[in-house]
Amino acid sequence: MKRFVLICAALLAMANAGAETRKQPKKVPFTHETVELPAVEPKVIAVETGHTALILQIDKKGVVRTVHYGDKIKNPGQFLSFNPSYNRSVDPGALIYPAAGGRFVGQPALSVRYPDGTRNTELYYTAHEVAGNKTTLHLKDYVTAMEVDLVYEAFPEADVIASHAVIRNAGKAAVELTDFASSSMTVTARKYLLTHFHGTWAEEMQVDREMLGHGTKVLESRRGIQTTQCNNPSFLLSLDTAEWSETTGEVIAGSLAWSGNWRISFEEPESGAMRIVAGINPYASAWPLKAGETFTTPDMIWTWSGQGAGQASRNLHRWARKSQLYAGSKITPILLNNWEGTYFDFNTKMLLDIIDDAASMGLEMFVLDDGWFGNDYPRNNDRAGLGDWELNTKKLPEGIDYIASYAHDKGLKFGIWIEPEMVHTDSNLDRQHPEWIVQSPGREMEQIRNQWTLDLSNPDVQDFVYGVFDRTMSLSDKIDYIKWDCNRSITSFGSPYLGPEQDRFFIGYIQGLYKVLDRVRAKYPDTIIQCCSSGGARVDYGQLRYFNEVWASDNSDGDSRIRIQYGTSLIYPACIMGAHVSVVPNHQTGNITPLKFRFDLAATGRLGMELQPKSLTPAERAFADRCIKSYKQYRDLVFGGDLYRLASPYDGEESALMYVSEDKSRAVVFLFNLKYRNRDRTAAIFRLQGLDPARTYKVTEQNVDKSCWWGNKKSFTGDFLASGGFNPSLRKPHDSAVFLLEAL
Ligand code: DGJ
Repeated sequence: MKRFVLICAALLAMANAGAETRKQPKKVPFTHETVELPAVEPKVIAVETGHTALILQIDKKGVVRTVHYGDKIKNPGQFLSFNPSYNRSVDPGALIYPAAGGRFVGQPALSVRYPDGTRNTELYYTAHEVAGNKTTLHLKDYVTAMEVDLVYEAFPEADVIASHAVIRNAGKAAVELTDFASSSMTVTARKYLLTHFHGTWAEEMQVDREMLGHGTKVLESRRGIQTTQCNNPSFLLSLDTAEWSETTGEVIAGSLAWSGNWRISFEEPESGAMRIVAGINPYASAWPLKAGETFTTPDMIWTWSGQGAGQASRNLHRWARKSQLYAGSKITPILLNNWEGTYFDFNTKMLLDIIDDAASMGLEMFVLDDGWFGNDYPRNNDRAGLGDWELNTKKLPEGIDYIASYAHDKGLKFGIWIEPEMVHTDSNLDRQHPEWIVQSPGREMEQIRNQWTLDLSNPDVQDFVYGVFDRTMSLSDKIDYIKWDCNRSITSFGSPYLGPEQDRFFIGYIQGLYKVLDRVRAKYPDTIIQCCSSGGARVDYGQLRYFNEVWASDNSDGDSRIRIQYGTSLIYPACIMGAHVSVVPNHQTGNITPLKFRFDLAATGRLGMELQPKSLTPAERAFADRCIKSYKQYRDLVFGGDLYRLASPYDGEESALMYVSEDKSRAVVFLFNLKYRNRDRTAAIFRLQGLDPARTYKVTEQNVDKSCWWGNKKSFTGDFLASGGFNPSLRKPHDSAVFLLEAL
């Protein structure tokens, strides 16, 4: 101590010596006095679901730690005497919401810049309350008066916990938040296998797996609006293993319900524990918080499975279907979209012909894609027109209502495409409102797909974007479906509206988008809305509070699509996944897979078609009719059943999955062979999952005259099908099969 005082005195003397020549730094009122923390009654809080528990321990100082996330424990109170210092010395342990400051030196969930320039925050428990399935913990910094409420909502049936933070500046002066995560979780294991997603246009939701070690792995997006290009704000972490397993072992999965920049970090400090911090990416987004103001973060969705990745996905899917998706698992129509059939080159007659064909094939909706608008700058290609949302009267002189009514008369619903957040460089909107465009003064405004992004942090732009939706809907009272596209991410970011408050831009954009979508949903609760973003660049649980479905990718080539859909299935349920059959070869991606393979694969999601029906031969057309008819028999299972993945396209020669109804009375099994299997090799065995072992199921192959399994149309017990009796013969690459199972 003596030595410390001497050093301080020496430093002070040095500082004084230079004082005549140097500018005096602004004095900060440092003292050695410390604010006394009130004593806290130690306690344990358990946030429980049907099978899992997140257990938090509060020590006598009020430090809150995560002591367990996993199986439910009969008496969580036993954690009361848990002492982290027995297990770790330097690391302060699994802080529930680590703030930058005190003994914590890792990636913080919260960091704050105070008016005096100091950066230290230490959060202590003050109180908590439980209301139904919601547990709220109140934390406070006694020196700076920052307060954080951590809200944990348990979804017992799905074994999911949604968690967010409400950060409050209870001090007297404005502060700035430089980290403001939604949630943090610490787990301890000997090995950590991280599964996450990467991708690009036409290669979305590609699966990446890697072992984590000491140090920090960061997954993030800084693209502003295309949240999931290239990463997705989701992950699965398998514990104590280097092997991926669908059926065994502990897995924690997480997904952030936010549609803008995000960051999820995995940090293994010297303690060997794994600390996960997830939330909005603070990149260029320090958030100003005036005295008395609060900032509420989006939800981070957590689930834990003790039975491998399959159960973790099923938990997320069930939670999403029952509690998060705008329309739950409500079935959306089998549609035909004209994009790949016509691109921009269509007229009313062509569209009516397509509608006739769609109706005769048993399809249920026609969607008119890009190209129907713009007069001064007609949208006849992707080099003009975005922003000018009026009917192109030259191209479609009869109007939208005429086409929509025609579709309705034929028994089809009608949908139409918009991309309301964008403006084209050649458009009236650009001439009228250049100040509405995302830009940075003096910098080139970079075009992507020849277009710019409108600045949704600006309330006038929010009104405009809402107006685009509203005006489009007013073109006909027979519009049942809107495809909402978004074909670029944000670059050269900046908002003319925000002036000096540019740090608000990225978050303000998404808040603005959500405001628009709230208004849209208030007026149009029943309209089916698809979220499309150059394909699947915007797939997240934030968007899915508003949208019925997503267009998973522009790539409908079977070989690529099987990987995209598999990746999507790890986090998102099948009912949101638009999956279309397009032509061979596909114009965009060189599709070569057979029609049956493409149909069987598209039928694992919300089936649709994306082609000119006239391009099909009579035989292909008859086959398409058959597949569509059979899909209608089992699609309730795809939309609302539990998914079991039997084989992964990333790991072997087959891909296989099945959906089982909640009451286990019906199931549909999809099998895809990926490589040549020579005739001397035994057929692959698929061990079916999720069936009732005691029940007997009749098995019927769909879409074929001659079945690939000797057991077709026979009946078998669930235990027989689960233990190796199911071995249809699929030998050629791209052989595929669909089996319907019905309990007798
Ligand atoms: C990108 C989408 O993914 C496509 O389906 C199509 O709608 C085009 N945009 C239209 O420009």
